[in-house]
Amino acid sequence: MSTLLPPLSAPPAAGLGTELPAIVTASVPGPAGMALVDLLAAHECPAITARRARRAESTGVDQDPIVWERAIGSNVWDPDGNRFVDLTAGFGVASAGHANTHVVARVTEQLQRHVHGMGDAFPGVARIQLAAALAAHLPGALDQVIFGSDGSDAVEASLKTAVLATSRSRIVACEGSYHGMSLGALGVSHYKDAFRAPFAGLMGRLADWVPFGGDLDAIAEVLDAGEPVAAVLVEPVQGRGGERTAPAAWFQGLAELCRARGALLIFDEIFTGFGRAGPFVQAGTPAMGGVVPDLICLGKGMSSGFPVSACVGTPEVMAAWGQSTGEAIHTSTFLGHPPGCAAALAVLELIDEHGLLERGRALGELMGHTLEDLCARHPEAFSGVRGRGAMRGLEVVGGVERSLVLCRGMLARGFIVLPAGTRGEALSFTPPLTMTAGQWTAALATLEGLL
Ligand SMILES: Cc1ncc(COP(=O)(O)O)c(C=O)c1O
Repeated sequence: MSTLLPPLSAPPAAGLGTELPAIVTASVPGPAGMALVDLLAAHECPAITARRARRAESTGVDQDPIVWERAIGSNVWDPDGNRFVDLTAGFGVASAGHANTHVVARVTEQLQRHVHGMGDAFPGVARIQLAAALAAHLPGALDQVIFGSDGSDAVEASLKTAVLATSRSRIVACEGSYHGMSLGALGVSHYKDAFRAPFAGLMGRLADWVPFGGDLDAIAEVLDAGEPVAAVLVEPVQGRGGERTAPAAWFQGLAELCRARGALLIFDEIFTGFGRAGPFVQAGTPAMGGVVPDLICLGKGMSSGFPVSACVGTPEVMAAWGQSTGEAIHTSTFLGHPPGCAAALAVLELIDEHGLLERGRALGELMGHTLEDLCARHPEAFSGVRGRGAMRGLEVVGGVERSLVLCRGMLARGFIVLPAGTRGEALSFTPPLTMTAGQWTAALATLEGLL
């Protein structure tokens, strides 16, 4: 096993963020954290960070956020010196752990060479290397990339590609899907109507949504009703929608429906990619019935912490953009930002040479069977386990109210965990793939203690 990744059995305090929680203040957050949260409340748009009183109004759970001061491996420290264990990997991002030493070293080298590039005008070395490396790692003919900074950028690029490649503009996506908050990505996300409703006047056409894993004949009827479809966009495992999976045969059937109608198939693997759900990506694996889409979106765990994303397609669909004649019709100031590309190359090195995927698979198996066991022992509290690999959801009896109470109890005891699902009906576990068995089992013991 790599010396760059802690073994699953690493004892607490072995360094690299493998420690158990230590709460040193009477309440969480402590006074230093509270002072910072108050300062933020004065200067940040109030819609961004929920404060205790407003949260209590809507959910009945009064909880102020903790402030992150430092994060290494699976540990996070707040300004009061409380140490937490992060069961979310920061929204599934810190795949190799927070501030992974190899990622930091590669990014530092890059920062010393050049921090910024010039988008579409003059490519940087790291961007070129990453474009080639992604093509080498992805299945089928997924060989040509459009880089972005966050996941929404990748989704937007995939939608634009589909429109150009098919000369159609109707998108079909899934109920419960989440693809991002920028206007195009929001317009195809089903996750919550409340996210879209205020901006309806600004958005173009929305997607038509079909049930995730639903009856294929009914989906065929939706595809055939109305204008021809440009693309079907789907998450192989729904992330924010609550770690929901669908059978391999469903993905095969969906791919067949697309093929028969000349519609593209897009996999949004922003959450599942880079080993989160087991393999490098779900595309092409048995869990997807071997289906390789026309376009794949990547982000989050791609860099283990730096904003970089990618929409990768076959040369056939990417050709629809035409050759740039000097002014690209799709770009951004930070396209292929060098530190993000260097970080992604470092994560690929961790995968190729240091067993990051194997480490994640071992953790995912441990998560799966320990969650099943917890669920079986407490049917009064938990009604099922969802997900795949190190991307798991635990269905909570009592719905969102109970989920939030459990999240709050966990935070007070030093474990960061979030609810997931369109109704907040599950606890979501997407830890760093480097989390130790000791940290994980301590988290479940703490959760059990709350029941
Ligand atoms: C599957 C999926 N797609 C897209 C996004 C949007 O990514 P970002 O928040 O980086 O824009 C997310 C974010 O959670 C996601 O889970």
